[in-house]
Amino acid sequence: MEKIVALCKRRGFIFQSSEIYGGLNGAWDYGPLGTELKRNLKDYWWKCMTQLRDDVVGYDGSILMNAAVWKASGHVDTFSDPMVECTLTNQRFRPDQVSPQSGFVYYFTAGKDIEGSDKLKEIAIKVFVPNEDNEAKARKTARQIADKEKEIVSLVLVHKEALTNTVAFNPENGAPFGESKKFSLMFKTYVGAVESEESKTYLRPETAQAMFVAFKNVLEVARKKLPFGIAQIGKAFRNEINPRNFTFRSREFEQMELEFFVKPGTGPEWLEKWKDARLAWYQEIGIPRAKIHVLTVPEKDRAFYSQGTYDLEYEFPFGVQELEGIAHRGNYDLAQHAQASGKPLDYFDEETKQKYLPEVVEPSAGVDRTVLALLCEAFAEETVKDEESGKEETRTVLRFAPRMAPIKAGIFPLLKNKPELVAKARAVQDLLRPLLKISYDEAGSIGKRYRRLDEEGTPFGITIDFETLEGAKEGSTSGPGGRIEAGQVDTVTLRHRDSMKQERIAIADLPAYLLAAVG
Ligand code: GAP
Repeated sequence: MEKIVALCKRRGFIFQSSEIYGGLNGAWDYGPLGTELKRNLKDYWWKCMTQLRDDVVGYDGSILMNAAVWKASGHVDTFSDPMVECTLTNQRFRPDQVSPQSGFVYYFTAGKDIEGSDKLKEIAIKVFVPNEDNEAKARKTARQIADKEKEIVSLVLVHKEALTNTVAFNPENGAPFGESKKFSLMFKTYVGAVESEESKTYLRPETAQAMFVAFKNVLEVARKKLPFGIAQIGKAFRNEINPRNFTFRSREFEQMELEFFVKPGTGPEWLEKWKDARLAWYQEIGIPRAKIHVLTVPEKDRAFYSQGTYDLEYEFPFGVQELEGIAHRGNYDLAQHAQASGKPLDYFDEETKQKYLPEVVEPSAGVDRTVLALLCEAFAEETVKDEESGKEETRTVLRFAPRMAPIKAGIFPLLKNKPELVAKARAVQDLLRPLLKISYDEAGSIGKRYRRLDEEGTPFGITIDFETLEGAKEGSTSGPGGRIEAGQVDTVTLRHRDSMKQERIAIADLPAYLLAAVG
């Protein structure tokens, strides 16, 4: 993971947000290459959901919504995580994310003066240490905990005992956690000049609710019959207790969500269909089926509204973790909003002449988590022979599926001080630029330029060399200044990122070849 994080920074995929001020925990920026990668991912999801299907329409809801939405959806009352706080540092942890530890607990009594009395007030303090001979460390931590309250005058060890698999202490310093509390994950904000209960609302913690609330509006304009869906991509915000694993758990992130409305009783069947469709989709973006685990979420772990949920999980370097949740939400959301707003949200079935609330199946994927999975899946280090010197060296390569690659092809004149090569390379750039994201590079040796392409995950390198000029002379179909015209015979070297194989290809064939390759 460290190597991937370093590469992301070195090549401009992902940076810490507000880095020059020390960053902001749980917030990340996408650099030039990361932005392209993320855009390719979102565009492909959007294309698959809204362009290649007849039964899904798009939506772009606002991030700020009437606070009543979040009350009716259940978020205000229930969207929280249990949280424990370290009694020494006040750092917050999610109890389910604390690794069990085995070791020894030292029990102390700290005494402090009570003003106007010759007695000491005694406080009980316990500290966890991994080894029995860590009494000095335990004593130091106990003193720090006691000193938080007031200067203490005595610290006495009462007894110690062995403990296995405890999650009651901060693994970083051995101080005990306080009582478990509920911690709301919603970011509050105020709309307008006055900060009051009435002006309070929240940054949306999921994009889904905008689509439920707008169900009737969309139904009226989209002229769709059930089953049909509404798709949306957008930012969501959660004040996570422990943002971690790079972008995996962030406080600001993007979701790609589909709310698929179906006839009552058909939810389970659509849940299966969407699970299969989404599994196939991950393969299309370069994540092999074998790396995705399907978890049937047990009832006790499901969101309260869910009648069945699959989690699609990916084998990240830090463990098998959720990429996407696919939930059968029943008619919970529509029913809640109809009741709270007083506006009916039923569907009128022309065939049966009945009114009812549809059920909803929701595939909800994380953009940032999928970008991270793409980076993890693409990352490779291998020993190869340098293409110029023939010497063995380690190359770092991002083997993105071409349709996801931020840049599709790099264009190089073999030498930058040969104007004919440069003019021709610029002409190839002009030919391809309207069709695909490409880069142009004339700095450094050709071997170095190929390595740069590899690290950026660019699937093709196009080199304009002396053979190109010879071909142009013989065919003499290029226009003045190396302008490319149809029917020319000029060829370039096409270098493939993964195999490092090189072949010659006619410039005129490049557009069709590359467009087919990047899907
Ligand atoms: N509307 C349903 C919903 O929001 P969720 O399982 O809470 O369900 C869906 O979130 C997806 O959003 C997750 O599978 C994950 O990919 C992404 N996601 C959720 N919380 C996230 C976080 N803190 N950081 C990054 N991505 C997150």
